[in-house]
Amino acid sequence: MSNHSVSLKDVYRDYFLIGAAVNLGTIKSHKDLILKHFSSLTAENDMKFASTHPREGVYTFEAADTIMEFAESNGLKMRGHTLVWHQQTPDWVFQDSDGNDVSRDVLLSRMKEHIETVAGRYKGRIYAWDVVNEAVEDKRDYFYRKTRWFEIIGEDYIDRAFEYAHEADPDAALFYNDYSAVYPGKRDKIYSLVKGMKERGVPIHGIGIQGHWSIYGPSAEDIKTALDLYASLGLQIQITELDLSVYKWDERDIELKQPTQEMLDLQEKKYDEIFRIFREYRDIITSVTFWGVADDRTWLDNFPVRNRKNWPFLFDVNHCPKGAFERVVNF
Ligand code: GLA
Repeated sequence: MSNHSVSLKDVYRDYFLIGAAVNLGTIKSHKDLILKHFSSLTAENDMKFASTHPREGVYTFEAADTIMEFAESNGLKMRGHTLVWHQQTPDWVFQDSDGNDVSRDVLLSRMKEHIETVAGRYKGRIYAWDVVNEAVEDKRDYFYRKTRWFEIIGEDYIDRAFEYAHEADPDAALFYNDYSAVYPGKRDKIYSLVKGMKERGVPIHGIGIQGHWSIYGPSAEDIKTALDLYASLGLQIQITELDLSVYKWDERDIELKQPTQEMLDLQEKKYDEIFRIFREYRDIITSVTFWGVADDRTWLDNFPVRNRKNWPFLFDVNHCPKGAFERVVNF
């Protein structure tokens, strides 16, 4: 049964927030879907370092402000994304005027000023921030990702970022956010990282599981094991960047004009399965955010294969609910 009148956010009102990542284009082009189905927004790019702070002493908040005001005027909550990351951060942050690396103290004071300015600007208006994004290494031999933040400051850059964010907005819930967070190797590192932070009294309130997944995985078992482990730390969990690619990660040579029926069937099953789990963990999951709104526009159209169309969401290219949507709202 096609159920065009059902609203996703209403169905999940007593469970968790339903979020979408947006940009200046999609708050117009996808406005109807956003207002009907979503209760929270994340700026896809416009609150990142490179967007808000492109040069030393120069802050640009036009795009971020527009999205913030769109959220507020429509009664939507706003997640902040992201204060400290190794990507989409300009080189000037790490360099002096001769192009040499700055000292630890200089980088810490730049980080502090950035966080104070950005989190301070939206104080009391953004309810949760991804403070540090993707600091844990994928490769087995290393714990921390060897970013310039890490190389110049040392591993305590993560603690300091959370302290600065807490000072800037004491009421915001502060998250560590990462991908592959439900797979055993990375899961255990994220767990140790956050456990150590808690023991040191660092103000951290949640773990963001990005959720760039596919119709083939992760397994229900991996998702539940990770949720149980993270929950044992006494923190809230948010799914922050959900999309279910129709391709396997290493499937780079297939390119389709339409998703196959088999893909759509698998996608329905996977969405059904993961939302069953999310509902089961409603006490610790406080928000599920999709990394986009509908299949006509997704970052996966360019990643990991440029110009390859993907169909990862609950709404199709015409903004109509897919079979997967019906499975997620009928329980
Ligand atoms: C990571 C980041 C997001 C976004 C995606 C790709 O997951 O956290 O901000 O850049 O990559 O779109």
